[in-house]
Amino acid sequence: MKKKILILSGGISKERLISLDTGQQVANELKKNGYRVKITEPNHNLEKNIKFFKPNVIFNALHGQFGEDGYIQTILERFKIPYTHSGVIASSIAMDKEISKKLFIKNKINTPKFFTHSYDTKNEGLINKIKKKLRFPVVVKPLNEGSSVNVYICNEKNIIKILNSIKQYKKVMIEQFIGGREIQVAIMGNKKLGAIELKPKRKFYDYQAKYNSNAKTEHIIPINLPKGKMDMVMNMAYRAHKVIGCRGVTRSDFKFFNDKFYLLEINTQPGMTKLSLVPEIAAYQGMSFLKLIEWILNDASKKK
Ligand SMILES: Nc1ncnc2c1ncn2[C@@H]1O[C@H](COP(=O)(O)OP(=O)(O)O)[C@@H](O)[C@H]1O
Ligand SMILES: [Mg+2]
Repeated sequence: MKKKILILSGGISKERLISLDTGQQVANELKKNGYRVKITEPNHNLEKNIKFFKPNVIFNALHGQFGEDGYIQTILERFKIPYTHSGVIASSIAMDKEISKKLFIKNKINTPKFFTHSYDTKNEGLINKIKKKLRFPVVVKPLNEGSSVNVYICNEKNIIKILNSIKQYKKVMIEQFIGGREIQVAIMGNKKLGAIELKPKRKFYDYQAKYNSNAKTEHIIPINLPKGKMDMVMNMAYRAHKVIGCRGVTRSDFKFFNDKFYLLEINTQPGMTKLSLVPEIAAYQGMSFLKLIEWILNDASKKK
């Protein structure tokens, strides 16, 4: 008898639509292959759904706040049913770009220079502070968002206006802008699965470049990099995965400029539609979408 899989998707984050897509595509693939599948939102009916359906594994297809940051993982721990991807602590560390970057630095994993800016302090003096610590252009981004939501490349002229437009975050990151190539690496447990390069036609790899096929971001695999460089970026992603204590599959986002890799972040719940990057990397390695999902489910079952 094939397993019963409860898929968690949707949620309340800004990546709700992407999560619904991930959930639906994982569900379709599993159903096609004889699994018993139910999709649910992580709302107050969750407990009832779990008790009623009695899943063997919970596939967490949520992205962003509440789904990828340790909150839902804390709730799932209560049910004593294996759930996919990282646990409570790794999820919350990885979702917080300030804490995870401090850990990267401590472990000598190169990441762009940054500082955080809180709205309690006045913006006066900020331009000078940026000029002293970094140089323009810089990137302003929330500490715990995903899918490039509210990520801005800023110059001296527009930064204050942009900061004022995203005051809801209270605290944001101001990071050195790194030009050059965009490379992402998938790690699967102890395996360095592979890497892909993205060439956005837009100014950077923003929300449209990620999800709107009309934006025509080019996906390049295999990447044109010497083996030594390829090993280097794969090792950086592997170490980030281990340093944060991640489980299952992760995807690390890098910039490559002047022969140096810069780790921007590690994603503990990368998108899992057929057109997402991790499935694309897996496919290149000869691993089908189904095999990838089954590996993730199996890995979840092994955790406890
Ligand atoms: N320091 C940076 N230098 C250059 N581009 C950046 C930088 N930070 C972010 N970006 C661009 O914004 C995208 C999203 O940033 P990232 O830190 O990965 O946040 P998210 O969690 O939203 O994906 C990156 O893929 C990259 O294209
Ligand atoms: Mg990213």
